[in-house]
Amino acid sequence: MKGMTRREFGAAAAASAAVAFTDSRLLAAAPPAKPDKVLRYPAGFVWGCSTSAYQIEGAVDEDGRTPSIWDVFAHNSGKTFEGQTGDIADDSYHRYKEDIALLRNLGVGGYRMSIAWSRIFPNGTGQPNPRGLDYYDRVIDELLANRIQPFVTLFHWDLPEALPGGWQSRATALAYADYAGYVARHLSDRVSHFITTNEFVCFTDSGYRDGRFAPGLKLSAAEANQVRHHGILAHGLGVQAIRANARPGAQVGLAENPEVFVPVIEDQRNIEAARRATRDRNAQFLTAVMEGAYPESYLRREGANAPRIEPGDMKAIATPLDFVGLNVYEPKYVRADDSPQGYAIVEPPASFPRMASPWIYVGPECIYWAVRNACDLWRPKAIYITENGCSSDDVMNAEGRIDDTDRLMYLRYNLTNLHRAVLDGYPVKGYFLWSLIDNFEWDDGYSKRFGIHYVDFSTLKRVPKLSAEWYREVTRQNAVV
Ligand code: FCB
Repeated sequence: MKGMTRREFGAAAAASAAVAFTDSRLLAAAPPAKPDKVLRYPAGFVWGCSTSAYQIEGAVDEDGRTPSIWDVFAHNSGKTFEGQTGDIADDSYHRYKEDIALLRNLGVGGYRMSIAWSRIFPNGTGQPNPRGLDYYDRVIDELLANRIQPFVTLFHWDLPEALPGGWQSRATALAYADYAGYVARHLSDRVSHFITTNEFVCFTDSGYRDGRFAPGLKLSAAEANQVRHHGILAHGLGVQAIRANARPGAQVGLAENPEVFVPVIEDQRNIEAARRATRDRNAQFLTAVMEGAYPESYLRREGANAPRIEPGDMKAIATPLDFVGLNVYEPKYVRADDSPQGYAIVEPPASFPRMASPWIYVGPECIYWAVRNACDLWRPKAIYITENGCSSDDVMNAEGRIDDTDRLMYLRYNLTNLHRAVLDGYPVKGYFLWSLIDNFEWDDGYSKRFGIHYVDFSTLKRVPKLSAEWYREVTRQNAVV
């Protein structure tokens, strides 16, 4: 090979392969064609897309909506990319029919959307605003007219600014339950899946401990643990309020992003370490919700900073769920060790591949282990992947196409690994891709694109990316393509 560039070597190899292929004796010996689709999903599997209110709606002061903590944070904190806000976002408030047409073209059967609490209760509690609900009525009717099932999230971080103390106040958990019950009462004639909350860590720790998200506070450990407790309490009281108000048979769950632990090597010791890490590192959120108690190890670790729990709280928090929704993006690798906790996290080397958002390490087996760890630990009745997707540095080429082959690679290998969970017999019922359209990506503003439809933020025009074309084929074949 000496003296040959890599490219020349490739060309020479291809040429000799071409000669071999024209040899009819070799062709005759070729193996029989594979069955066309090996990675087919079960009949009835729900394919969908996911979005959230503040990230797409815009229309922030229309029809009686009041500011949420994210409006205030985006405008005043200086912590969002170039000071960007969700004031206009994708203007989906006015363009929802266009967005639902995109869903229809994808051939999906589900749409996970969220409701902006401050459209429904401008003061957070008390007097409802009928014009807020009217908007969601229109969206839901349009979805159903297109045979798309709404999966409605009641809280995706846009807490009404009007609620004194935000999640620091226990009263917010009670206000949330009232709001959730009210919405369930009005929408459950047409909505059969309700999701209480989205990603505890992002509206508690990121907002109240790390100051990165709204409301941008950096509270003490004790105060931050109390915020966490109010978050999971809101979820539990919300489940009860939805059940008390919705029509019988409505399915209630949550959308949670537990840290996902992948065994470095798939042998018994490391698999057990991954399970142990899952329970331990998610102690304050999913473990507490699924088990109705904070694990001893968490309480010991937090000591005097542990949350104050009132009688009945843990029972409410653990109200049984119809499904668990998992938002899955990236893995944490773990191995067994002889420490008292029985596991050690393996930090990724600097060269570990990532997507456009540096926090998204590419380890598509994480979607399999997210399902497996949760199911082996807690045996939920059903699992939905409520978010999975990635950012990519999308550019429109001269022909007007966005060939996001990196996103396609990410999604294809995630679905391949999710299929493994289906083959294992875990109760995976559906998959919601994040996201339908590029949108306001929180502190990253519009600098990170997660959509399978490109949005030109100066004209708000939507253009399907290559990944949209691909997803359409996935839903058509009900298989990995
Ligand atoms: C998740 C959020 C969602 C979106 C994606 C990229 O953590 O739930 O709103 O920002 O990340």
